[in-house]
Amino acid sequence: MYRSHNCGELNASHINQEVTLAGWVQRSRNKGFLIWVDLRDRYGITQLIFDEARTQKEVFEKAATLGREFVIQVKGTVIERESKNAAMATGDIEILVSELTILNAAIIPPFTIEDETDGGEDIRMKYRYLDIRRNPVKNSLMFRHKVAMEVRNYLSNQGFIEVETPVLIKSTPEGARDFVVPSRMNPGQFYALPQSPQTFKQLLMVGGMDKYFQIVKCFRDEDLRADRQPEFTQIDCEMAFVEQEDIMGVFEGLASYLLKELKGIETCKFPRMTYADAMRKYGNDKPDIRFGMEFGELNEVAQHKEFAVFNSSELVVGIAVPGAAAYTRKQIDELIEWVKRPQVGANGMVYAKYEADGSIKSSVDKFYDQEDLKKWAEITGAQPGDLILVLSGDAHKTRTRLSALRMELATRLGLRNPEVFAPLWVVDFPLLEWDEESERFHAMHHPFTSPKPEDMALLETNPGDVRANAYDLVLNGNEIGGGSIRIHDKETQALMFKYLGFTEEQAKAQFGFLMDAFQFGAPPHGGLAFGFDRLVAILGGQETIRDFIAFPKNNSGRDVMIDAPSTIDNAQLTELSIKLNVAQ
Ligand code: AMO
Repeated sequence: MYRSHNCGELNASHINQEVTLAGWVQRSRNKGFLIWVDLRDRYGITQLIFDEARTQKEVFEKAATLGREFVIQVKGTVIERESKNAAMATGDIEILVSELTILNAAIIPPFTIEDETDGGEDIRMKYRYLDIRRNPVKNSLMFRHKVAMEVRNYLSNQGFIEVETPVLIKSTPEGARDFVVPSRMNPGQFYALPQSPQTFKQLLMVGGMDKYFQIVKCFRDEDLRADRQPEFTQIDCEMAFVEQEDIMGVFEGLASYLLKELKGIETCKFPRMTYADAMRKYGNDKPDIRFGMEFGELNEVAQHKEFAVFNSSELVVGIAVPGAAAYTRKQIDELIEWVKRPQVGANGMVYAKYEADGSIKSSVDKFYDQEDLKKWAEITGAQPGDLILVLSGDAHKTRTRLSALRMELATRLGLRNPEVFAPLWVVDFPLLEWDEESERFHAMHHPFTSPKPEDMALLETNPGDVRANAYDLVLNGNEIGGGSIRIHDKETQALMFKYLGFTEEQAKAQFGFLMDAFQFGAPPHGGLAFGFDRLVAILGGQETIRDFIAFPKNNSGRDVMIDAPSTIDNAQLTELSIKLNVAQ
């Protein structure tokens, strides 16, 4: 038996017991005649004491050789500590060691294994297994496990069945590029790794497995950000014989259950907002509604004067920043520079300070009088003491820019409290979106999403105005899930592929299997997938998903620990019938 107890469980009730512990040396302090060692494992830290007067000479001498991260096993007696540490679960006791076995020595770690480490991001990624020994990472992984357990419990109790779908598949278009895998047995042919199990879960519905779920790896070759990894995990779900309301009901139930079980938070019915309103009020299809600063459209009250910048703009739109009228000129100039950065892309910004005395001082006083500016205040909801910030230009771009500014200011003003949770359903997404590059419509969610029946007629005339039976669940400004009611008949699906620019042959080659299946009695169905990493991170109070993934990739999609991706040797390439046109 390696250990009788773990390093987090011994307390005053165990005093005088003989115990065996095993773990890593967190640190040791050598006072010459006394040596203390903090022994660490996943469960906590227990203090060991080696006393020249009470410990055998040979054991004492061995203790003096212990270095950081040595793996040891000790036998000893639990004794009361002289100076107790109330902050530690095991802080009342220590182990007077009688036997010490060094199970494995360790070289000096490249960074300190402490909550606050001296290791930078890169070095911690390279030695991720050491980073996992640190509490912040370890606790995040344990939290992830807890969320997964709760999800499985909840869905299983609701009658959902977890079914595994294949990983070597044919490409499913979800808007990103596929990762592909060459097939040795089929020269010149490739599998794709699933961007999601979308078509398989629909086929499971045809197979009669209504109420499916799967906690599943998905792969997307897209640009990475704090909330995106090339391989990530979804809680993927599908139901048959349901309407949008049924699906939203079940998964609102799941999200409320998780908030209750994991955060102790009771939620009311989640608010809903149409996509059109979200864009108009927040410039964003995943608005953070923990705070206000709703957009106020100012065209009507700002385009009647001689200010050419506004007059020539499609949209003039502002927000009221609470309590920011006191910003200095320098602070405002810095904000103007912030919106002009290429990542945001505004040409400039107009501001108006709503002073405590009720007067309004703006950067465009030359053009607008107090009466005009009062209207701006009214429309943006500004109160005395607030700062009104206004952007103008192309409607879509201006909204996106103001949204970025709104989020930045909220972060700076501390309005994005990670312990406050504001879920929101965004509904009525457009079915199609215009892609400038390819000059054609793309499915906004995916090509299997059904249009709203009442908008079907618009498909021929105004495809961009057709709304879909599609919905996203947003939590604190992050899209944590999305789904739709699907098309379940061959004709509509074929029509959809046609609108998306597929020829009949292309549609058949890529999705013939799905359209064929629809001919064998496909039930009406729909579903949704949560981004599991995102959900866990947000419930854990953070937005960077990397910390909640055991072995994440860096921003260039590399695993720097195992050094992947990497070249493969010529023999392997030959076997796969692959000829490279880049030098290895
Ligand atoms: P969608 O593409 O919206 O829908 O993905 C569902 C959820 O997955 C998360 N997500 C990601 N998380 C981390 N890294 C990524 N690269 C990444 N990409 C997406 C998001 C997102 O809301 N098959 C459909 C679902 C359906 O219609 O049922 C789908 O995959 O949180």
